[in-house]
Amino acid sequence: MSIEKEINSIREKFSEDLGRVVTSKDLEELKVRYLGKKGSVSALMISLKDAEDAQKPILGKSINLLKNEIALAIHELMEKINSAELDQKLQKEKIDVTLPGKRRRLGRLHPVSQMLYKVVDVLIDMGFSVQLGPDVDSDFYNFEALNFPKDHPARDMQDTFYITHDLLLRTQTSNVQVRVMEKNPLPIRMVAPGRCFRNETVSARSHIFFHQIEGIYIDKNVTFADLLATLDELWRRLFEKEIKTRYRPSYFPFVEPGIEADILCTQCHGGGCRLCKFSGWLEVIGAGMIHPEVLKAGGIDPEQYQGYAFGLGIERLTLLRYGISDIRRFTENDNRFLAQF
Ligand code: PHE
Repeated sequence: MSIEKEINSIREKFSEDLGRVVTSKDLEELKVRYLGKKGSVSALMISLKDAEDAQKPILGKSINLLKNEIALAIHELMEKINSAELDQKLQKEKIDVTLPGKRRRLGRLHPVSQMLYKVVDVLIDMGFSVQLGPDVDSDFYNFEALNFPKDHPARDMQDTFYITHDLLLRTQTSNVQVRVMEKNPLPIRMVAPGRCFRNETVSARSHIFFHQIEGIYIDKNVTFADLLATLDELWRRLFEKEIKTRYRPSYFPFVEPGIEADILCTQCHGGGCRLCKFSGWLEVIGAGMIHPEVLKAGGIDPEQYQGYAFGLGIERLTLLRYGISDIRRFTENDNRFLAQF
């Protein structure tokens, strides 16, 4: 076939092929087939070398014309296809902003944590700093240094989970007292929140696992009146209303004198119910003046320094605050209960 005929046949073939193109991929392939290095237009250019010299410029021009026609046609169709494909894609990805959204449930703090943070916040405002002690501790810090000699009957007040002969789950946050005395310069004014564990029968008002906040203030001339004033201020800030409290003398080996504070039961308002063991009152705190032996164990001279300590039960406070009648609710993980706080 002469080159001229070939040019025409390629032109015809191309317009047929172009008519069959659907996608941009088809078009890319078409482009390679005609304009690529091994494409039919390039082949034409190569075959030019066999033409007569006089014909070469004329044929060359025709081939270039064909090449430009093809390139233009491909370019135009490419623009059309691209914009159609983009439209399609946008259509598919369209978001209906009027559709209702998915409701996500937010988590929240456990009521006991809420109360714990609240008490700690109030105490920080009152000038206490925060330190933490270990949940697993030695007999020394949990008992011995706190003036519970071995075989002392007061140890029976706190049924203990022992891990080894000397290691135990702390029964009280008071285990931080001597640690803090050992580590810090005087005066000391700090609180220590945390978990405590006792091998007790679980009931509406006690659990084997609970939280306390320990508070300690040691300085020159700290008196029992400071302790009472601090506790009164704490209740005032915590409940934001007048609540009835009473202080009773009590015994803890690591304080002298020792007291316990009760809050009028918010469940029965003193009338007596299961929560307050029908006494009308709920004990929420143990406190007292730090025993000289405990100060000595912490390396402090009791002739020069005095201090008070208190230990607040957080679960009890939470029961009172929300009028909950059973401490076991806190550990049942029932969302219907927890979601109310
Ligand atoms: N640790 C005591 C208890 O758990 C409470 C307490 C703390 C009493 C500090 C006096 C001083 O019962």
